[in-house]
Amino acid sequence: MKLENKVAIITGGAGGIGRGISLAMAKEGAKLAIVDINEEAGAKTLADVSEFTEAIFINKDISNQDNVKAIVAQTVEHFGHLDILVNNAHASRQVPFMEQTQEIMDLSFNTGFYPTFHFMQAAYPQLKANKGKVINFASGSGLTGKANQTSYAAAKEAIRAISRVAANEWGADGINVNLISPIALTEGVVAWSKARPEQYEQMVNGIPLRTLGDPESDIGRVAVFLASEDSDYITGQTIMVDGGSIMLR
Ligand SMILES: NC(=O)c1ccc[n+]([C@@H]2O[C@H](COP(=O)([O-])OP(=O)(O)OC[C@H]3O[C@@H](n4cnc5c(N)ncnc54)[C@H](O)[C@@H]3O)[C@@H](O)[C@H]2O)c1
Repeated sequence: MKLENKVAIITGGAGGIGRGISLAMAKEGAKLAIVDINEEAGAKTLADVSEFTEAIFINKDISNQDNVKAIVAQTVEHFGHLDILVNNAHASRQVPFMEQTQEIMDLSFNTGFYPTFHFMQAAYPQLKANKGKVINFASGSGLTGKANQTSYAAAKEAIRAISRVAANEWGADGINVNLISPIALTEGVVAWSKARPEQYEQMVNGIPLRTLGDPESDIGRVAVFLASEDSDYITGQTIMVDGGSIMLR
Protein backbone atom coordinates (compact mmCIF):
# COMPACT_ATOMS: atom_id res chain seq x y z
CA MET A 1 0.00 0.00 0.00
CA LYS A 2 1.93 2.98 -1.28
CA LEU A 3 -0.52 5.63 -0.02
CA GLU A 4 -1.62 4.22 3.31
CA ASN A 5 -2.68 6.93 5.79
CA LYS A 6 -2.53 9.58 3.05
CA VAL A 7 -5.49 11.85 2.28
CA ALA A 8 -6.05 13.14 -1.25
CA ILE A 9 -8.30 15.71 -2.89
CA ILE A 10 -9.02 14.82 -6.52
CA THR A 11 -10.83 17.49 -8.55
CA GLY A 12 -12.96 16.10 -11.35
CA GLY A 13 -12.46 12.81 -9.54
CA ALA A 14 -15.81 11.32 -10.58
CA GLY A 15 -15.23 10.88 -14.31
CA GLY A 16 -12.58 10.35 -16.98
CA ILE A 17 -8.97 10.44 -15.84
CA GLY A 18 -10.02 11.71 -12.40
CA ARG A 19 -12.06 8.56 -11.82
CA GLY A 20 -9.05 6.47 -12.88
CA ILE A 21 -6.89 8.32 -10.36
CA SER A 22 -9.54 7.90 -7.65
CA LEU A 23 -9.57 4.12 -8.21
CA ALA A 24 -5.78 3.78 -8.46
CA MET A 25 -5.19 5.81 -5.28
CA ALA A 26 -7.99 4.03 -3.40
CA LYS A 27 -6.38 0.67 -4.18
CA GLU A 28 -3.13 1.96 -2.65
CA GLY A 29 -4.91 2.91 0.56
CA ALA A 30 -5.35 6.68 0.17
CA LYS A 31 -8.44 8.23 1.73
CA LEU A 32 -10.23 10.37 -0.82
CA ALA A 33 -12.19 13.57 -1.19
CA ILE A 34 -13.64 13.24 -4.67
CA VAL A 35 -14.72 16.64 -5.96
CA ASP A 36 -17.00 16.95 -8.98
CA ILE A 37 -20.04 18.80 -10.37
CA ASN A 38 -21.42 15.56 -11.84
CA GLU A 39 -23.52 14.17 -9.00
CA GLU A 40 -24.46 10.90 -10.73
CA ALA A 41 -20.87 10.04 -11.69
CA GLY A 42 -19.77 11.10 -8.20
CA ALA A 43 -22.17 8.67 -6.53
CA LYS A 44 -20.96 5.82 -8.76
CA THR A 45 -17.25 6.52 -8.26
CA LEU A 46 -17.78 6.93 -4.51
CA ALA A 47 -19.49 3.53 -4.37
CA ASP A 48 -16.69 1.94 -6.44
CA VAL A 49 -13.77 3.34 -4.40
CA SER A 50 -15.53 2.59 -1.11
CA GLU A 51 -14.80 -1.06 -1.78
CA PHE A 52 -11.13 -0.25 -1.13
CA THR A 53 -10.96 2.82 1.09
CA GLU A 54 -12.74 5.54 3.04
CA ALA A 55 -13.95 8.34 0.78
CA ILE A 56 -16.30 11.31 0.58
CA PHE A 57 -17.88 12.91 -2.48
CA ILE A 58 -18.01 16.71 -2.50
CA ASN A 59 -20.49 17.96 -5.09
CA LYS A 60 -19.15 21.48 -5.62
CA ASP A 61 -18.14 23.69 -8.56
CA ILE A 62 -14.42 24.44 -8.25
CA SER A 63 -14.64 27.58 -10.37
CA ASN A 64 -15.87 29.36 -7.22
CA GLN A 65 -13.00 30.30 -4.88
CA ASP A 66 -15.15 30.09 -1.76
CA ASN A 67 -16.02 26.53 -2.73
CA VAL A 68 -12.31 25.71 -3.05
CA LYS A 69 -11.64 26.95 0.49
CA ALA A 70 -14.69 25.06 1.78
CA ILE A 71 -13.58 21.81 0.05
CA VAL A 72 -10.12 21.95 1.65
CA ALA A 73 -11.67 22.77 5.07
CA GLN A 74 -14.24 19.95 4.78
CA THR A 75 -11.55 17.44 3.78
CA VAL A 76 -9.27 18.36 6.68
CA GLU A 77 -12.19 18.38 9.12
CA HIS A 78 -13.35 14.96 7.95
CA PHE A 79 -10.02 13.13 7.67
CA GLY A 80 -7.82 15.20 10.02
CA HIS A 81 -5.18 16.08 7.42
CA LEU A 82 -4.45 16.52 3.70
CA ASP A 83 -1.36 15.14 1.94
CA ILE A 84 -2.09 14.95 -1.81
CA LEU A 85 -3.73 17.51 -4.09
CA VAL A 86 -4.70 16.44 -7.61
CA ASN A 87 -5.85 19.36 -9.77
CA ASN A 88 -7.38 17.37 -12.60
CA ALA A 89 -10.70 19.00 -13.62
CA HIS A 90 -10.66 21.35 -16.61
CA ALA A 91 -13.39 22.35 -19.07
CA SER A 92 -12.79 24.15 -22.36
CA ARG A 93 -14.12 24.81 -25.88
CA GLN A 94 -12.25 24.52 -29.14
CA VAL A 95 -12.64 27.35 -31.67
CA PRO A 96 -10.28 29.06 -34.15
CA PHE A 97 -8.10 31.83 -32.71
CA MET A 98 -10.16 34.65 -34.28
CA GLU A 99 -13.38 33.23 -32.83
CA GLN A 100 -12.09 33.16 -29.27
CA THR A 101 -14.27 35.21 -26.93
CA GLN A 102 -13.79 36.42 -23.39
CA GLU A 103 -16.43 33.90 -22.34
CA ILE A 104 -14.50 30.95 -23.83
CA MET A 105 -11.26 32.20 -22.23
CA ASP A 106 -13.05 32.56 -18.89
CA LEU A 107 -14.40 29.00 -19.06
CA SER A 108 -10.91 27.55 -19.47
CA PHE A 109 -9.21 29.76 -16.89
CA ASN A 110 -12.07 29.54 -14.36
CA THR A 111 -12.26 25.73 -14.45
CA GLY A 112 -8.56 24.96 -15.02
CA PHE A 113 -6.07 27.64 -14.09
CA TYR A 114 -7.75 29.49 -11.20
CA PRO A 115 -8.96 26.39 -9.31
CA THR A 116 -5.44 24.93 -9.56
CA PHE A 117 -3.98 28.18 -8.18
CA HIS A 118 -6.66 28.56 -5.48
CA PHE A 119 -6.42 24.92 -4.35
CA MET A 120 -2.63 25.16 -4.10
CA GLN A 121 -2.90 28.27 -1.92
CA ALA A 122 -5.70 26.84 0.24
CA ALA A 123 -3.93 23.49 0.71
CA TYR A 124 -0.45 24.92 1.35
CA PRO A 125 -0.52 24.88 5.19
CA GLN A 126 -1.50 21.20 5.16
CA LEU A 127 0.95 20.33 2.38
CA LYS A 128 3.74 22.07 4.30
CA ALA A 129 2.87 20.29 7.55
CA ASN A 130 2.79 16.89 5.82
CA LYS A 131 5.48 17.20 3.12
CA GLY A 132 2.67 16.93 0.61
CA LYS A 133 2.44 16.24 -3.11
CA VAL A 134 0.72 18.32 -5.77
CA ILE A 135 -0.19 16.79 -9.12
CA ASN A 136 -1.39 19.27 -11.74
CA PHE A 137 -2.51 18.63 -15.31
CA ALA A 138 -0.85 19.81 -18.51
CA SER A 139 -1.69 18.97 -22.11
CA GLY A 140 0.11 18.27 -25.35
CA SER A 141 -2.20 20.92 -26.84
CA GLY A 142 -0.46 23.52 -24.71
CA LEU A 143 3.03 22.18 -25.33
CA THR A 144 2.60 22.15 -29.12
CA GLY A 145 0.12 25.02 -29.56
CA LYS A 146 -2.52 22.86 -31.18
CA ALA A 147 -4.94 24.63 -33.55
CA ASN A 148 -8.28 25.76 -32.08
CA GLN A 149 -7.01 25.42 -28.51
CA THR A 150 -6.16 29.04 -27.65
CA SER A 151 -7.95 29.20 -24.30
CA TYR A 152 -7.07 25.65 -23.28
CA ALA A 153 -3.40 25.87 -24.32
CA ALA A 154 -3.05 29.22 -22.54
CA ALA A 155 -4.55 27.92 -19.29
CA LYS A 156 -2.53 24.70 -19.43
CA GLU A 157 0.78 26.49 -19.98
CA ALA A 158 -0.13 28.94 -17.19
CA ILE A 159 -0.68 25.93 -14.92
CA ARG A 160 2.76 24.59 -15.90
CA ALA A 161 4.29 27.99 -15.12
CA ILE A 162 2.86 28.31 -11.61
CA SER A 163 3.69 24.67 -10.91
CA ARG A 164 7.38 25.36 -11.57
CA VAL A 165 7.32 28.49 -9.41
CA ALA A 166 5.64 26.64 -6.54
CA ALA A 167 8.06 23.71 -6.95
CA ASN A 168 10.93 26.18 -6.53
CA GLU A 169 9.42 28.02 -3.56
CA TRP A 170 8.05 24.95 -1.78
CA GLY A 171 11.01 22.63 -2.30
CA ALA A 172 12.40 23.79 1.05
CA ASP A 173 9.12 22.68 2.68
CA GLY A 174 9.48 19.20 1.24
CA ILE A 175 6.49 19.68 -1.06
CA ASN A 176 6.71 18.16 -4.56
CA VAL A 177 4.81 19.80 -7.41
CA ASN A 178 4.63 17.91 -10.69
CA LEU A 179 2.37 17.66 -13.71
CA ILE A 180 0.99 14.87 -15.86
CA SER A 181 0.45 15.48 -19.57
CA PRO A 182 -1.85 12.57 -20.49
CA ILE A 183 -3.63 10.95 -23.35
CA ALA A 184 -6.41 8.70 -22.14
CA LEU A 185 -9.44 6.81 -23.33
CA THR A 186 -12.08 8.56 -21.24
CA GLU A 187 -15.87 8.29 -21.61
CA GLY A 188 -15.78 11.48 -23.72
CA VAL A 189 -13.12 10.10 -26.07
CA VAL A 190 -15.05 6.82 -26.43
CA ALA A 191 -18.18 8.77 -27.50
CA TRP A 192 -16.11 10.81 -29.97
CA SER A 193 -14.45 7.67 -31.40
CA LYS A 194 -17.88 6.21 -32.15
CA ALA A 195 -19.06 9.42 -33.82
CA ARG A 196 -15.85 9.89 -35.87
CA PRO A 197 -14.15 6.48 -36.26
CA GLU A 198 -11.83 7.61 -39.07
CA GLN A 199 -10.50 10.58 -37.11
CA TYR A 200 -10.08 8.32 -34.10
CA GLU A 201 -8.05 5.79 -36.10
CA GLN A 202 -5.87 8.58 -37.45
CA MET A 203 -5.29 9.80 -33.91
CA VAL A 204 -4.33 6.33 -32.63
CA ASN A 205 -1.92 5.88 -35.54
CA GLY A 206 -0.24 9.14 -34.54
CA ILE A 207 0.64 7.74 -31.09
CA PRO A 208 3.99 5.89 -31.09
CA LEU A 209 2.62 3.22 -28.73
CA ARG A 210 -0.52 2.98 -30.96
CA THR A 211 -3.00 3.07 -28.10
CA LEU A 212 -4.66 5.54 -25.76
CA GLY A 213 -3.84 5.36 -22.07
CA ASP A 214 -6.19 3.73 -19.60
CA PRO A 215 -7.41 6.28 -17.01
CA GLU A 216 -6.70 3.95 -14.10
CA SER A 217 -3.85 1.61 -15.06
CA ASP A 218 -1.83 4.07 -17.15
CA ILE A 219 -2.59 7.57 -15.84
CA GLY A 220 -3.78 6.64 -12.34
CA ARG A 221 -0.71 4.53 -11.63
CA VAL A 222 1.60 7.42 -12.57
CA ALA A 223 -0.44 9.65 -10.26
CA VAL A 224 0.10 7.08 -7.48
CA PHE A 225 3.85 7.23 -8.18
CA LEU A 226 3.85 11.05 -8.05
CA ALA A 227 1.86 10.96 -4.80
CA SER A 228 4.12 8.39 -3.14
CA GLU A 229 7.56 8.55 -1.59
CA ASP A 230 8.92 6.82 -4.71
CA SER A 231 8.94 10.23 -6.42
CA ASP A 232 10.39 12.24 -3.51
CA TYR A 233 13.32 13.49 -5.64
CA ILE A 234 11.19 14.65 -8.59
CA THR A 235 9.72 18.16 -8.62
CA GLY A 236 8.69 20.82 -11.13
CA GLN A 237 8.45 18.24 -13.92
CA THR A 238 5.87 17.58 -16.60
CA ILE A 239 5.60 13.80 -16.93
CA MET A 240 4.45 12.84 -20.43
CA VAL A 241 2.00 9.92 -20.05
CA ASP A 242 0.94 9.96 -23.67
CA GLY A 243 2.38 6.91 -25.43
CA GLY A 244 5.26 9.02 -26.72
CA SER A 245 2.97 11.37 -28.65
CA ILE A 246 4.49 14.75 -28.03
CA MET A 247 8.20 14.28 -27.39
CA LEU A 248 8.70 11.84 -30.29
CA ARG A 249 7.07 14.09 -32.91
N1 LIG B 1 -8.34 12.85 -21.85
C1 LIG B 1 -7.20 13.16 -22.43
O1 LIG B 1 -6.71 12.46 -23.32
C2 LIG B 1 -6.45 14.40 -22.00
C3 LIG B 1 -5.41 14.90 -22.80
C4 LIG B 1 -4.67 15.99 -22.36
C5 LIG B 1 -4.96 16.56 -21.13
N2 LIG B 1 -6.01 16.09 -20.38
C6 LIG B 1 -6.27 16.73 -19.08
O2 LIG B 1 -6.50 15.72 -18.09
C7 LIG B 1 -7.47 16.16 -17.14
C8 LIG B 1 -8.64 15.20 -17.10
O3 LIG B 1 -9.18 15.09 -18.40
P1 LIG B 1 -10.47 14.20 -18.75
O4 LIG B 1 -10.40 13.94 -20.21
O5 LIG B 1 -10.59 13.07 -17.81
O6 LIG B 1 -11.66 15.24 -18.49
P2 LIG B 1 -13.22 14.94 -18.41
O7 LIG B 1 -13.87 16.11 -19.03
O8 LIG B 1 -13.53 13.58 -18.96
O9 LIG B 1 -13.48 14.90 -16.84
C9 LIG B 1 -13.37 16.04 -16.08
C10 LIG B 1 -14.15 15.87 -14.78
O10 LIG B 1 -14.14 17.14 -14.15
C11 LIG B 1 -15.45 17.48 -13.75
N3 LIG B 1 -15.59 18.94 -13.76
C12 LIG B 1 -15.61 19.76 -14.84
N4 LIG B 1 -15.77 21.04 -14.46
C13 LIG B 1 -15.83 21.04 -13.11
C14 LIG B 1 -16.01 22.06 -12.13
N5 LIG B 1 -16.15 23.35 -12.48
N6 LIG B 1 -16.02 21.71 -10.82
C15 LIG B 1 -15.89 20.40 -10.45
N7 LIG B 1 -15.75 19.39 -11.34
C16 LIG B 1 -15.72 19.71 -12.65
C17 LIG B 1 -16.37 16.80 -14.76
O11 LIG B 1 -17.69 16.62 -14.26
C18 LIG B 1 -15.63 15.50 -15.01
O12 LIG B 1 -16.02 14.48 -14.10
C19 LIG B 1 -7.85 17.57 -17.58
O13 LIG B 1 -7.03 18.51 -16.92
C20 LIG B 1 -7.54 17.56 -19.06
O14 LIG B 1 -7.32 18.86 -19.57
C21 LIG B 1 -6.76 15.03 -20.79
